[in-house]
Amino acid sequence: MHAWQFDEYGHYDNVLKWVERPTPKVGDGEALIETVAVSLNFPDLLITQGMYQNKAPLPAVPGVEAVGKVVEVGRGSKFKLGERAVGFMHSGGTLADYFIAANDSAWPVPAHVSDVQAAGLSVTYGTSYFGLKHRGQLAPGEVLLVLGAAGGVGSAAIQLGKVFGATVIAAAGSAEKLDICRKLGADHVINYKDEDVVEKVKEFTDGRGADVIYDPIGGDLFDQVKRCVNWEGRIVIIGFASGRIPSIECNRLLLKNMSVVGLAWGQYLSRNPAKGEACQMALYDLLADGKIDPLIYRVFGFADLPAAMALMESRELYGKVVITR
Ligand SMILES: NC(=O)c1ccc[n+]([C@@H]2O[C@H](COP(=O)([O-])OP(=O)(O)OC[C@H]3O[C@@H](n4cnc5c(N)ncnc54)[C@H](OP(=O)(O)O)[C@@H]3O)[C@@H](O)[C@H]2O)c1
Repeated sequence: MHAWQFDEYGHYDNVLKWVERPTPKVGDGEALIETVAVSLNFPDLLITQGMYQNKAPLPAVPGVEAVGKVVEVGRGSKFKLGERAVGFMHSGGTLADYFIAANDSAWPVPAHVSDVQAAGLSVTYGTSYFGLKHRGQLAPGEVLLVLGAAGGVGSAAIQLGKVFGATVIAAAGSAEKLDICRKLGADHVINYKDEDVVEKVKEFTDGRGADVIYDPIGGDLFDQVKRCVNWEGRIVIIGFASGRIPSIECNRLLLKNMSVVGLAWGQYLSRNPAKGEACQMALYDLLADGKIDPLIYRVFGFADLPAAMALMESRELYGKVVITR
């Protein structure tokens, strides 16, 4: 098969090559999927550099989620030949003609979900669903502050925040991105490039602060927003797109009766696959009801992967980039 492969770690422009490599072998509880569409995620920028927490042995293939057609099934696989499936691969591997779908981290795709929607659903909406519902315990009527709100996980968090009955404050880095956030359902918006996030959150909440803060960025923004959390509020740590892992004073947690909780979505799939599957089915239902819809910025062909990665790196896009074969 053909795949985008890297033999050594480095910037994608220097190390990614379109090569022939062996088609993966199907194990028990697995299926082989012929790739139709892959969505890019922030970790794809880290994977080729060896900076992502899960590392595949070299030579390796990036791409952590994709949709396609089941062409071979291993013993005990839950899939049927010919059906559509969407899968998540913790260490990458989907930017190829074929990828492996394991029972605990792949699901059939119902007819009402398009290939592009399916490719862009699991990681971002799964993360935001678990982050808001299970870790953040977001309740109807609460105030949710979403950082990086026009990004992949952020745009999903706006839509799911509305589904869960919250008032959503979306914070992002440009006027164009804030327009997108409003269209996604945000009740209030903040441009953190030129506005004081803490002051704005307090203004929108009559001084109380946000009940749940969804943070995929960390760094300086975390240092700011830890000062606008309501009594018994929760900061949900999703990632560190800024490149810096922040820290917090424990006395702040005590004084505000507040919590900082972490979310690693992929771990739910391996530790509690039933919960992962229930989330995926709930997302399909929300899509069918028109309550969520993945924000797709642009669709590229497989040959244009370097341009798609460059767009991701530029930080100019909103929502997701999808690559089709
Ligand atoms: N915990 C989990 O299970 C899980 C799952 C998926 C993703 N994540 C993590 O969540 C984070 C966001 O992922 P994503 O797929 O939503 O990425 P994305 O679509 O690229 O969005 C990231 C957003 O972060 C903001 N940002 C702030 N500082 C940045 C910087 N230095 N470089 C790039 N972006 C920056 C950008 O918005 P502005 O320009 O508006 O600031 C951008 O829209 C990543 O760290 C990723 O690893 C975690």
